[in-house]
Amino acid sequence: MNTNYLKNCKRVFGNSLLQSGVCLGKNLGLFEALHGVGKPCDIASLAHLTKTKEPYLRELVFSFVSSGLLGFQNNEVFVPDWKVFKEVFVSQELKYIKPFEDVSPILENCFTEKGPFGYGHDEAPFVMEFILSRRANYNVPIAKALAEVIKVHAKKYADVLDLGCGSGDLTIPFAKEMNASKVQGCDNSEKAIFNAKIASFDVPNLHLSVRDIHKLPEDWTEKFDIILLYDVLHDLQFPNKAMKQVMRVLKKGGIVIIVDPKVSSNPSENIGNILSAEALTYSTWWCIPSSSCNHGSGHGVGWGWQNKEKFLSGIPGLEIKSRVCLINSNYNFAYICKKE
Ligand SMILES: C[S@@+](CC[C@H](N)C(=O)[O-])C[C@H]1O[C@@H](n2cnc3c(N)ncnc32)[C@H](O)[C@@H]1O
Repeated sequence: MNTNYLKNCKRVFGNSLLQSGVCLGKNLGLFEALHGVGKPCDIASLAHLTKTKEPYLRELVFSFVSSGLLGFQNNEVFVPDWKVFKEVFVSQELKYIKPFEDVSPILENCFTEKGPFGYGHDEAPFVMEFILSRRANYNVPIAKALAEVIKVHAKKYADVLDLGCGSGDLTIPFAKEMNASKVQGCDNSEKAIFNAKIASFDVPNLHLSVRDIHKLPEDWTEKFDIILLYDVLHDLQFPNKAMKQVMRVLKKGGIVIIVDPKVSSNPSENIGNILSAEALTYSTWWCIPSSSCNHGSGHGVGWGWQNKEKFLSGIPGLEIKSRVCLINSNYNFAYICKKE
């Protein structure tokens, strides 16, 4: 018996978030398909066999690779020991965690080749709120750290734009930290902005509006000193188009701060990293559906920090000044970029 694999399987089973991923994989017929093939299989063939969309399947499968549930070699995945896998997962009932349970029929449908592209916050409000609630204790320290970074680059007063601000969990403490500045928060979710407005009634320097990042107002051209995209880039449907808008509404010499998960673009480098396994599971429920809307990129967290860094380096007129870990977090990289 493969005892290391048994340990991994038990760890996945005992982690309710990761167990949700296995439950999804089972419902999609993923493990049956792998068993049927009887040898290592690449993602495209597995997507073909399970009649699922590749970006969705890839994110789920790479969460399994990160947790050690699936082996990964030569771009192919396999179950290291079927006897152990069956003992841990087939003989026991698998469940979704509660916040994922309601949306799972919609997600399972999105996985299918002919199913909807994806969903946003307004169609599945509890998913993102649950995911962001896991960060609740860190919002104030993160807001302080962001304000410190900004102080180095901006005057006392700055026009700041927080794109994809969601329900304001971070934007509100951030606006309080930046109380000598004006902060605009926008998101394309009406529900999120409604919640943010209620929660920020006592924050006079914060202005909130429903907007799609890909279509910012014409009269915002060169309006902002600082633009923030916190945990947003990999959720976007069209990052190229979005960054063109960012560059337009940013003043010359202005700063963009992009904070995004630190998961590697190379699945092998995530093996044994439970933070990556969890981030990829969250991404399966939220970031892939969000970024796939309207036939979008479908990037999600698995896009990886190396690919994102390459993408940011290729934006004309934008220079990456530094890459830092806010509050020494192991989870994110913050890119401080300047418009020439
Ligand atoms: C993971 S949440 C991060 C929310 C917030 N920045 C925070 O960290 O608390 C990503 C946000 O991006 C928003 N979003 C996704 N696509 C968008 C678009 N095209 N335009 C504006 N916002 C978008 C989502 O609605 C969601 O609120």
